[in-house]
Amino acid sequence: MRASFKLFYTLIVFALVYAAEGITHHDELSLSDYHDEDGHTHTHGAQVPLGYVKYPWLSPNSHTTYPGDDDVTADSIFSGITTFARLPWQDCLSPTAASAKAPADVVFIGAPFDTGTSYRPGARFGPNGIRSGSRRTFLYGSYNVPMGHNPLRSGLRIVDCGDISVTPYDNALAIKQIREGHQELLHRTPATSLKDQYRNLRDSERLEELRLRRKQDPEFEFSKEDNADYLASFENVTHVPISKDGKEHPRVITLGGDHTIVLPILRSIYSAYGKISVIHFDSHLDTWKPVVFGGAPSDQAAINHGTYFYWASQEGLIKNGSSIHGAIRTTLANMGDYDNDDNAGFHRIEAREIDTLGVDGIIKKIKDTVGDEPVYLSIDIDSIDPAFAPATGTPETGGWTTRELRAIIRGLDGLRIVSADLVEVAPAYDTNAELTTMAAADVLFEVLTVMTKTPLGKGKIVVKQVM
Ligand SMILES: *[C@@H]1O[C@H](CO)[C@@H](O)[C@H](O)[C@H]1NC(C)=O
Ligand SMILES: *[C@@H]1O[C@H](CO)[C@@H](O)[C@H](O)[C@H]1NC(C)=O
Repeated sequence: MRASFKLFYTLIVFALVYAAEGITHHDELSLSDYHDEDGHTHTHGAQVPLGYVKYPWLSPNSHTTYPGDDDVTADSIFSGITTFARLPWQDCLSPTAASAKAPADVVFIGAPFDTGTSYRPGARFGPNGIRSGSRRTFLYGSYNVPMGHNPLRSGLRIVDCGDISVTPYDNALAIKQIREGHQELLHRTPATSLKDQYRNLRDSERLEELRLRRKQDPEFEFSKEDNADYLASFENVTHVPISKDGKEHPRVITLGGDHTIVLPILRSIYSAYGKISVIHFDSHLDTWKPVVFGGAPSDQAAINHGTYFYWASQEGLIKNGSSIHGAIRTTLANMGDYDNDDNAGFHRIEAREIDTLGVDGIIKKIKDTVGDEPVYLSIDIDSIDPAFAPATGTPETGGWTTRELRAIIRGLDGLRIVSADLVEVAPAYDTNAELTTMAAADVLFEVLTVMTKTPLGKGKIVVKQVM
């Protein structure tokens, strides 16, 4: 094993008996993998939603042509049926659709629920609003420049599953529907094994190295020995899932809906990961006791978009002490609300701390709090200032810019985010320029990039036992 790989595995535990599996694919790497559609098990072309819609970057010569050349036109982003970022649509929760259960690695699902809202209603239209705002997300391709990573080229299958059916007439039933829909998706076997996910990421890095070398020397090839070394580095290595049930799970990105939906989502997450650390971007705490938030005139009224984390904490769904809020700037009943928030297990970053800690300081505080734990990410669009995202249930001035929130999310690189949501987009209050829904979509592009860069596994060196 080469020294660099030894270093790579310093932290890795020696495990028991696993037969080392042979290398089954990608025996040779070539730069053509960069441009053709066959680089990975799940091809880039497979991400095209419908045959008649083409993206500029799917042109046969996409690196040399522009929208309008060849048979590709720029109208591909405003025609056709709208899915999140024009990803393929799969009717995942249909009892009859033939493709319903086709395996996927990251699924977008809407939860159009807004009957837990205290101020402006309308987040039931959030899922389709975000989809609409996301149409141009991949206009120029899906390569995320600051992250140096292309989520659609990570070899994963990423689809939009439409919406969970949610009744607007009965909150208890709606909450049950959301948990069941989420849990159904979460417990499907992913399309890409952990082993292949790690392999695909390493292949992408190697192809980038090849591209850079060929800028110096167009004839450059890795030597036979170097290729053999590279392939050998996969021998005797396997990865185990970080889940509590020991299984590999797809990631679910839920489009809200008001924030109440996070209670049923955390119940679903618990079924796979046990108690989870939560990163929560929001101007509000959402850990309020029902008597404080809404007065709790009935059991049903006690569960709403200001109390769902109180209930999640009471139910033991959240890890105590390794969860954190960011962008907080709400008024309080009194300072006792913060004591209550401490009891629910959260640390806090105030919105105004952006001026003292800066983006880097905030990222550090988040990483120090959640450590190496599996983490659930919940983003209320009201964490962003209403100047940039006005269309939300309970707007608060003095928030972060879209640029700041996006930078902070990119800073979560390396964390193992098991699933996420973006909630409280109420498109009826948006500008004609789709400010809020575009911000929501672009924030989710960062989330998708961070997720696809870090598989949900722990590495192990597996030594074949010599009898
Ligand atoms: C979390 O830990 C704190 C400090 O130990 C404790 O006061 C609080 O009751 C705990 N909360 C829960 C929900 O267990
Ligand atoms: C994998 O394990 C076998 C058997 O122990 C060993 O011969 C081989 O060198 C190992 N490969 C690497 C790359 O460590």
